Amino acid sequence: MSNQSDRRKRILTGDRTTGKLHLGHYIGSHRHRLAFQDEYECFFLLADLHMLTTRPDRESIELSAENARAIVMDHLAIGIDPQKATFCLQSAIHETYELQLLISSLVTVERLQQLPTIKDMAAAAGFEQMPYNLLGYPVLQSADIMLPRAHLVPVGKDNESHVEITRQIARRFNNAYGEVFPLPDAYVIGGTLPGTDGNAKMGKSLNNAIYLSDDAATVRRRVMGMYTDPNRISADVPGTVEGNPVFSYHDFFNPNQAEVDDLKARYRAGKVGDVEVKEKLAIALNHFLDPTRERRAQYEAKSGYVDELIYEGTLRAREEAKATLIEAKKAMGLTGVWNKISRGAERRRKKLEENAVS
Ligand code: TRP
Repeated sequence: MSNQSDRRKRILTGDRTTGKLHLGHYIGSHRHRLAFQDEYECFFLLADLHMLTTRPDRESIELSAENARAIVMDHLAIGIDPQKATFCLQSAIHETYELQLLISSLVTVERLQQLPTIKDMAAAAGFEQMPYNLLGYPVLQSADIMLPRAHLVPVGKDNESHVEITRQIARRFNNAYGEVFPLPDAYVIGGTLPGTDGNAKMGKSLNNAIYLSDDAATVRRRVMGMYTDPNRISADVPGTVEGNPVFSYHDFFNPNQAEVDDLKARYRAGKVGDVEVKEKLAIALNHFLDPTRERRAQYEAKSGYVDELIYEGTLRAREEAKATLIEAKKAMGLTGVWNKISRGAERRRKKLEENAVS
């Protein structure tokens, strides 16, 4: 393997360009990106090609650039250092399309069909039949991970099986053609934030999200409207804390443990109203978001900065991808196929010039 060993280890992870980030993304994945940025060289992919697996329509594609910008801004707002991170736009890294095809012989349709995540995505999108690219979602993801030869892939639980596919593909590639790729490890992140409506997951389409970019009044309004214990009709009725989203949020975002414990005890005893619990949550959330708002304002004041970051990052990622793809094609002997043909054509051209053949 070329000069990989003297480099810092690499991370690649990404987000589909389907919308801005909410607190569920933060808890489920993005907070961990912060922890990694000093130790690893980080590539953050804006996965607009993955978006096409469930949303290939013109409108979604049209919104992709704006969503990519919003996602990058959300990263900066939570404290990702733009000097350390490489943000890159998947559809502009042309090597992705090539490597995806080249590695597609290393995984079977049956293996992909068994993945619950793919079936779930198809069902959620309302598809009656499986689109070819949705079945290949983990293969495309493998190309993403393999191009910068990433070692670590921090992902939510739902993506763990996809990184498993990547390991299998990388191992098979190395066995069949020679050592080109490191076997990437998934770093699986725990913690799921429920939606404000009590749904197990927060999601844009569920309209139950609080966004990282929401202002203080919006956060407060969404918190005050949150689902709590439905059996509790008044403040003097003992309530349930477990599975109550207001308390899940307190656990994640309120650093004042004594306050959280006190609220829980009084809630169980029927000695606190929902309003107080929610007021305190709104304060905690806004306290958490205030520094992100400050950073956001600073970056927003730099006109075009995010576009420049994505642009430069994509060029950088492309250089890496190009080098890897050439190495992979050489290992496969594919470059040799074209070389043989072109050398033959060149020989003929020379001979024609020498009038040695007809
Ligand atoms: N599948 C990821 C998601 O659920 C997005 C993604 C695309 C990704 N390519 C990746 C994640 C490569 C990790 C590595 O949004």
